[in-house]
Order: sequence, then C-alpha cells, then structure tokens
Amino acid sequence: MKPNQKGMGIMDKPPEESPDRQAAKSLSKIGKKFLVMSGKGGVGKSSVSVNLSIALSNLGYKVGLMDVDIHGPDIPRMLGLEGMLGVNENKKLQPLIFSENLTAVSIEGLLQNKDDAVIWRGPVKHSAIRQFIGEVDWGALDYLLIDAPPGTGDEPLTVAQLIDDTKAIIVTTPQEVALADIRKSINFCKTVGMEIFGLVENMSGFECPHCGKTVSLFGRGGGERTANHGGIPFRGRIPFDPEMVSCGDSGISYLEKWRESSVSEAFNRIARQVSEAD
Ligand SMILES: Nc1ncnc2c1ncn2[C@@H]1O[C@H](COP(=O)(O)OP(=O)(O)OP(=O)(O)O)[C@@H](O)[C@H]1O
Ligand SMILES: [Mg+2]
Repeated sequence: MKPNQKGMGIMDKPPEESPDRQAAKSLSKIGKKFLVMSGKGGVGKSSVSVNLSIALSNLGYKVGLMDVDIHGPDIPRMLGLEGMLGVNENKKLQPLIFSENLTAVSIEGLLQNKDDAVIWRGPVKHSAIRQFIGEVDWGALDYLLIDAPPGTGDEPLTVAQLIDDTKAIIVTTPQEVALADIRKSINFCKTVGMEIFGLVENMSGFECPHCGKTVSLFGRGGGERTANHGGIPFRGRIPFDPEMVSCGDSGISYLEKWRESSVSEAFNRIARQVSEAD
C-alpha cells in the first residue's frame, strides 16, 4: 500500500510469506468465485452483488463479498456496514460482518476519511486487490462474489490474473447502448480466458403500482438476445423497483424487507442457478 493513504498501517507491515503465496492460501479455502461486471456504469452491479450475496447466504452458504471498486466503493453503504476493518489475533484483516453467513471487504474499510479520493495507478490497485485476498481472514467460504467497477480496466484484469477460476456474471440494462458495451465485456472474458457464468438483465420492466401494467423503461429482452447472440447463458431479468434505490441508499436488505416481491424472486432464482452450477 502507498504510505500516503491514511489508515493503512497494518497493510504496510512486511508479510511473512510472499503476497502471492498468501493470496493462494486464502483462495484455497474458497469454493466458487464470481466477478460481477458490466460494460456500462450504473446498471446495477453493486446491487446485484449485494442481493445475490444475501440470497446465497439465505440458502445457508458462507459468502464473502469483495468490493474491488477502488474509486467508488458502494458495498459498505448498501450493506449498512460502517467502520474500519479490524485486525485479528492472526494479524489478518477481519472482514466486516453483515450476518453469520455474509462478510464483506471494501477499500472503504481501510480509509479513515470515507471521502478521501483514492488516486492509484494499475500496479498499486493490483497489489491492493491481492491484499484483499491474501491479507484478509476470509475463512472457509462457499462463495466469493467480487463487485467490479464498470468496464474492462485494471480491477477486472487483476481479478482475472489473481483468481484464475473466477467466473463472470455480466450485468446489463436492456437498452441498446448498454448492450453494445456488454459485447466488450464478453470479448474481455474471452481474451483473458474467464468463463462467463451468464448475463443478468437488470431494471427490466417496471410494474405500475396503480394499474399493475408493466412499463418497459429501458426496453425489454435485449439482454437475452445479446446473451443468445454471444453464446452465453441468460440467467434472468430483475425488474425495476424504486424500493431497490431506497434500500441500497439506507443499507437495508431489500431481500429481507420485500421477501415476496418479483425482484426478490428473481434474485432467489439466480442464487439457485449459482448453487446448482458445476
Ligand atoms: N432493479 C433495480 N430497480 C431500481 N433501482 C435499481 C435496480 N438496480 C439498481 N438500482 C439502483 O440504480 C443505481 C445504480 O445501481 P448500482 O450502484 O448497483 O450500479 P453499478 O452498476 O454498481 O454502478 P457503478 O457502475 O457506479 O458501480 C442505484 O441507485 C441502485 O439502487
Ligand atoms: Mg457499483
């Protein structure tokens, strides 16, 4: 870690093992890993990461959520988690605890001032993400979900390099401008050899609370067409629900508050597909 970042004291200590060895040791205790990515910003990656993690944890799995959006970390706010990462007796960083089955790590948990801008080049991001894996006491996990920033930059590339069995979950909204960028994500995965678990279409239709009719805010069906075209599995549609915004903003679990909603059903269906996958 760069010494000019506040709150990084623990990360400056020389590790007893090489960082690569530490990361490999952590990863050996983690079952399946999924990178949630998109071509375009704001399509709902962090919302999908959070709600899919909660849905999997509700199925009884141990889940870790790693926020590799270094410049715009949203996971702590969405999970309602505050404070710094602690250090345990093994001198490892302790992830933030959402529930017995779900823990999370974000760069925000290492910054004393949450409003500090993190201004890092690729190699520093690479070592930070490696430390998120190797210097964090994740323990034994069934699933590690990784929330990426938009696009195909340093963060997803680092994940591809460090975790060679990660599968990609590509999130899109249905409109054509988002779909054009998804094709870049698909090509990124092909280039770095990352298997694509599938594509999720978010903000797909809004059910009018007055008349019950579904309004296609951003069009509909484009995600499935793009998935079919790219030869990748289509994993489902998540409708638009304004409650997703207020829950995300206030750190309330949408899945707990709106258990029976069609959005919760959609997340639970995707979680089952994840759990049934090889
Ligand atoms: N299905 C949905 N219905 C309504 N609002 C949603 C839905 N999914 C996400 N949102 C809202 O859209 C906004 C953007 O979502 P989110 O932050 O998850 O996107 P992102 O792809 O992670 O963004 P970024 O590219 O900035 O990381 C948030 O306010 C979120 O609450
Ligand atoms: Mg995000």
